[in-house]
Amino acid sequence: MSAAPSVLSAHGLPLDPIEKASLDELRSLQLQRLRTTLALAYERVPHYRHKFDEVGAHPSQVRDFADLARFPFTTKADLRDTYPFGMFAVPRDQVVRIHASSGTTGKPTVVGYTRDDIEVWATLVARSIRAAGARPGDMVHVSYGYGLFTGGLGAHYGAERLGLTVVPFGGGQTERQVQLIQDFKPDIIMVTPSYMLALADEFERQGVLPRECSLRIGIFGAEPWTNEMRSEIESRMGLDAVDIYGLSEVMGPGVANECIETKDGPTIWEDHFYPEVVDPETGIPLEDGEFGELVFTSLSKQALPIVRYRTRDLTRLLPGTARTMRRMQKITGRSDDMMIVRGVNVFPTQIEELILRQPLLAPHYVCILGKDGPLDTLTVRVEIKAERSNADAQVRERAAEDLEHLIKNYVGTSAKVELREAGSIDRSLGKARRVVDQRRG
Ligand code: DLL
Repeated sequence: MSAAPSVLSAHGLPLDPIEKASLDELRSLQLQRLRTTLALAYERVPHYRHKFDEVGAHPSQVRDFADLARFPFTTKADLRDTYPFGMFAVPRDQVVRIHASSGTTGKPTVVGYTRDDIEVWATLVARSIRAAGARPGDMVHVSYGYGLFTGGLGAHYGAERLGLTVVPFGGGQTERQVQLIQDFKPDIIMVTPSYMLALADEFERQGVLPRECSLRIGIFGAEPWTNEMRSEIESRMGLDAVDIYGLSEVMGPGVANECIETKDGPTIWEDHFYPEVVDPETGIPLEDGEFGELVFTSLSKQALPIVRYRTRDLTRLLPGTARTMRRMQKITGRSDDMMIVRGVNVFPTQIEELILRQPLLAPHYVCILGKDGPLDTLTVRVEIKAERSNADAQVRERAAEDLEHLIKNYVGTSAKVELREAGSIDRSLGKARRVVDQRRG
């Protein structure tokens, strides 16, 4: 007997039918929702109306996805210029939740959700956790921060929606988190990959082997992390590490999530978000498979419809595998994080990959940009693994030199490597700060 097409997750939970629908069905739903979203933006948000009119783009002209390219991009600056609620498409009393992202400069960007928006968000995070391999009855420990950041509450509502038991810990209090993980024995953890490493260190400090803990799945995101980091975390923690992607302006966590059966880059939940990849310089849309900047248009949001939002995240679109929807390649970096060192473009993730090839070194690191006269300098400060703290000066020097060579050969720039003792580089409780720019001007 031939098997019926699977409508179950890798662990036997029913999928939303659209996850396995035909491409035709998906595209027709998207096109219909795209038209509705553009019309809503035009009719309800003066800022959009003005911008669309300026370039002569009208929602009624949209016949195909290619027509979307006639519409202007939205950036963080649009949200700042209309701070705090100027981009909302519904009266404020229909907004049931506000989040905000602090950003590095100026005012925060503020986002809002109607009751239906919160429903969709919970459904999509539930879908994400299911794709990551959740089983009925699982317990989820949430270490993403609660509050204005979308990580904690986004994860929380999704896990509850899936019917799992949620431990809403949030960020910080590392020692207590580890104690509670040992006591409650959760199956799943949702946390930034960099903070997972801090938790792993704390397990060891308490004399417990991290891989013997109860965790079976880690759902990691909110910052770039490499496949090398995935292997490191998986072997150290004894769990499956899957990637969750999202951003506040588009919704929060759960815009895309990896499927555990393939672990080949997050599947974009395309029934709610239409992705494009554009050339970051010219803004011209690129073909699927080509690298560029990821751009999203929301397809169902009510409070804050978002049209062609420039994420600054660099990746490429790939065909669906475990689901009908397209995937994005694991993010290599943000254009804001790109360091230009003597004319060479360098991403922290490239450095991370090379650090993880060195058995002496732990992936706790920071890249420091400085000046030597007129020239840029790059210093990579990185920790020695705790269990190798007895390594002698010669071994340390050798590891530092090896890493300098690898950076020169693979990244194409000179860097000075400074080794530090385990635990001496600041741990972030959420997103790690990988670049410190000390250049003036
Ligand atoms: O970081 C939402 C989120 C929370 C995603 C928890 C996943 C888990 P923002 O604070 O607005 O929202 O930051 C969004 O974080 O544009 C990316 O640069 C980065 N980012 C998020 N997820 C990933 C990921 C949340 N899986 C910004 N890989 C995005 C790489 C990521 N970068």
